[in-house]
Amino acid sequence: MMSRIDIVTAELKVTPKTWLITGVAGFIGSNLLEALLALNQRVIGLDNFSTGFQRNLDEVKTSVTKQQWSQFTFIEGDIREFKDCEAALQGVDYVLHQAALGSVPRSIETPLITNASNIDGFLNMLEAAKKAQVKSFTYAASSSTYGDSAELPKTEGVIGKPLSPEAVTKYVNELYASVYARTYGFKSIGLRYFNVFGKRQDPNGAYAAVIPLWTAAIINGNDVFINGDGETSRDFCFIENTIQMNLLAATAEDEFKDEVYNVALGDRTTLNELYDSICSALATCDVKCDSELTYREFRVGDIRHSQADITKAQQNLGYDPKYKARQGIEQAMPWYCQFFNTDKTS
Ligand SMILES: NC(=O)c1ccc[n+]([C@@H]2O[C@H](COP(=O)([O-])OP(=O)(O)OC[C@H]3O[C@@H](n4cnc5c(N)ncnc54)[C@H](O)[C@@H]3O)[C@@H](O)[C@H]2O)c1
Repeated sequence: MMSRIDIVTAELKVTPKTWLITGVAGFIGSNLLEALLALNQRVIGLDNFSTGFQRNLDEVKTSVTKQQWSQFTFIEGDIREFKDCEAALQGVDYVLHQAALGSVPRSIETPLITNASNIDGFLNMLEAAKKAQVKSFTYAASSSTYGDSAELPKTEGVIGKPLSPEAVTKYVNELYASVYARTYGFKSIGLRYFNVFGKRQDPNGAYAAVIPLWTAAIINGNDVFINGDGETSRDFCFIENTIQMNLLAATAEDEFKDEVYNVALGDRTTLNELYDSICSALATCDVKCDSELTYREFRVGDIRHSQADITKAQQNLGYDPKYKARQGIEQAMPWYCQFFNTDKTS
């Protein structure tokens, strides 16, 4: 039997649509761009390069045909500016709203900046998309919304108290989205991403996520630090699964909108297991894992375990994640090997 994603991609190829990806120069945005262009879609991208890079767009350009690339329009702009949102939404069918400042530690250090992009910017996009009467609005929510809830696995209906400013902003997105559905009949879908990883996730800077951070350290022969005893676990979700969910959400029937969905694998990987997976995947590009492993204090605000229940996404949207964490890591590592060989600075 064909899975829903096969049907959706086949239909999109026959009848291409116009998509807006905000945060298109970032990790998830640029991977969405690549996938949509490969399906011969028309894409408008909006980004202010605050944490995204021109090099991500350049890389997508080299991975699609000239014809496919000609279907992409980039707008350098800021979602904190309502007029930039309006300009980017001209003629758009489906919105994939990814632009935000995503790091929990950054939000703890600079809450005002995070709030401006994640709440003011979000509301600008929601309002502009409603006015533009787009067919669907899918936005990046976050597993951080589960906060201090001890429930495992995490189901969409049970959340705890937010543990960071970033978590507050992502929860506020969900509240605004549901108010827009109730007040204006403008229904959207929120995707609660759980630790997404894959090529082009930024390995540099103070706020790098654990997989690119450790990978960079191992390749460059630096020490690897594990917060706690290494038995902390997360539901690591490979980018291909995340792309699938975005396509399924954007094209969902109306009855499945005005909802949030977990985007994960429904599995748990400990940090110790993660380190082993990264090491064995790096061996295929001749990188030896001889970094010093240092266990240090647990990080304040970190929860011990995180694992999603993905039943709702499976049942309503036909989500069928194809990549386990280990397989995703095997797919992602060659990109990092190449990145650090060719480009250590930009
Ligand atoms: N990567 C994860 O594991 C994860 C987990 C939960 C939620 N998310 C969410 O997914 C989305 C994408 O995250 P990512 O990992 O690709 O991060 P990223 O930093 O690589 O991408 C975010 C992009 O948004 C752009 N941006 C930020 N503020 C903007 C603004 N005011 N105007 C225009 N563009 C702006 C940045 O320049 C960047 O290109 C974010 O909303 C993030 O909160 C990601």
